[in-house]
Amino acid sequence: MSFLKKKMLVTCALPYSNGSIHLGHLLEHIQADIWVRYNRMIGHEVWFICADDAHGTAVMLKSKKQNILPEELIFKIYKEHKYDFSSFQISYDNYYSTHSKENYDLVQKIYNLLNSSGYIKERTISQLYDDKEKIFLPDRFVKGFCPSCKSENQYGDHCEVCGTVYAAINLINPLSVLSNSIPIVRTSVHLFFNLPFFSDFLKKWIFSGVLDKYVLNKTKEWFKIGLKQWDISRDEPYFGFKILNYLNKYFYVWLDAPVGYMSTFKNLCKKRTNLNFDEFWNRNSDCELYHFIGKDIIYFHTLFWPAILEATGFRKPTKIFVHGYVTIRGNKLSKSKNDYILASDWLKYLDSDSLRYYYACKLSNNIQDIEFNIYQLVEKVNTDIVNKVVNLASRSASFINKIFFGKLSDQLSDIELYMRFISESKNIEDLFNNREFSLAMKKIMILSDVANKYINDQKPWTLSNEKYNQLHMIASMGVNLFRVIMTWLKPVTPSLAEKSEFFLKIKLDWKGIKKPLLNHTISKFKILYKRIDINKIKL
Ligand code: MSP
Ligand code: ZN
Repeated sequence: MSFLKKKMLVTCALPYSNGSIHLGHLLEHIQADIWVRYNRMIGHEVWFICADDAHGTAVMLKSKKQNILPEELIFKIYKEHKYDFSSFQISYDNYYSTHSKENYDLVQKIYNLLNSSGYIKERTISQLYDDKEKIFLPDRFVKGFCPSCKSENQYGDHCEVCGTVYAAINLINPLSVLSNSIPIVRTSVHLFFNLPFFSDFLKKWIFSGVLDKYVLNKTKEWFKIGLKQWDISRDEPYFGFKILNYLNKYFYVWLDAPVGYMSTFKNLCKKRTNLNFDEFWNRNSDCELYHFIGKDIIYFHTLFWPAILEATGFRKPTKIFVHGYVTIRGNKLSKSKNDYILASDWLKYLDSDSLRYYYACKLSNNIQDIEFNIYQLVEKVNTDIVNKVVNLASRSASFINKIFFGKLSDQLSDIELYMRFISESKNIEDLFNNREFSLAMKKIMILSDVANKYINDQKPWTLSNEKYNQLHMIASMGVNLFRVIMTWLKPVTPSLAEKSEFFLKIKLDWKGIKKPLLNHTISKFKILYKRIDINKIKL
């Protein structure tokens, strides 16, 4: 079968500019990066982008608290986020910000298109207003008793005890989180996007194969309740893009955030002359668009976003890939609790490959949560990466380096075993492609066991002087199997792969493994990966 080269654009959800990157965010970026690196390796053209989501009330309030301008805060955080992602080898072609000229222009364009097509309507609504702080209270900034089950301390959008979804104005005895004062009810004109108009389109679209079944089921539930008009405006004070022709009104951050996917790509097109924005974004584009997101933002991506794209004549996503939360002792990572590990803290004690490999061992294509456990991580990395993979290289290389001047033999000791490994490659490809990373890692480790057992059974260290040839072929076999295994692991552990490439003096490439490395000189073996000592980790 001939290979069909695809043009793909892949995104992660845009992290908010109001906090640091933690292990929860990293799950998403690592998952997407593994998939991207795999797709690049097998020969597709992949553009991988992300940006900071710079707008909204939370950013504005945080900058106020720090006594700086929101622009200063988002710039500071942008530099941090960019550094964190590159430290974890997330291979973005562009990491940008929604607070950009490109995003401003696209948001205005999209709004004008929506408006001129009659999809935007004004409506006067009543909201809770903090008269002390002079601000309309977003749902997360007001707490009270659930109108349904009367539980205390519930936010203004839904009850965490009984699950009821309500409007903040219906909370019993509401209090502003900002000033602890009792909010008043105030009216204001808001702009609404006519989401229900797109119900028929969306009902069809969600069944077109863009969603995995868990996500499809979740999305179907929202149709049962019925789609509602979507409020896309916010009143001053707010940090975001102003809506022209309105005094003191801004676009809601969730309108301009997904447009950030487009504007980040637009910005990349400026830097790469071979890239064309319209080729990727026009309605009939042949290119593919993939969004990786967490399960808390499904609604925005499976309903709002495709409806906006449909309404404005742009292409829709090819697939939306959703993952669950990283939990520690069962809790979603949260700043208010202690179980909260920052990306930058991780790197004080551990490398990026260890987390990448661990997450790969835990990830699949469903939306179940992923429990993080540092003891399990250390155990996995030491057993698999150190004892199985790297050990295979070191034990074989010592013969090649010491006895054969670094040169591999011109034949392998067991070509059938080598071919068995190669025949597994297709299976591993499918697992990577379907984001079944944990199954892929299992398969690769089973084969690493097979490779080590082969060396153990052959006992090359017992071979006497007359059996030099045999010894040469067995040790070369070990190096060759290591090369195959590291090729499969390259999307997961890019730093280890790079060191292995230096050691093997060859680029690890998916198609290349069909041919074994023979008569080839390798470098002197240097430690590729250090065993992790749990006692040195103070996270
Ligand atoms: N800014 C929005 C996304 C806009 S996309 C147009 C947002 N930002 S976020 O910083 O809160 O989250 C970014 C991504 O990280 C989301 O996909 C979210 O699900 C994911 N995660 C945040 N905490 C997480 C865990 N504890 N575990 C796994 N993913 C989590 O939402
Ligand atoms: Zn309740």
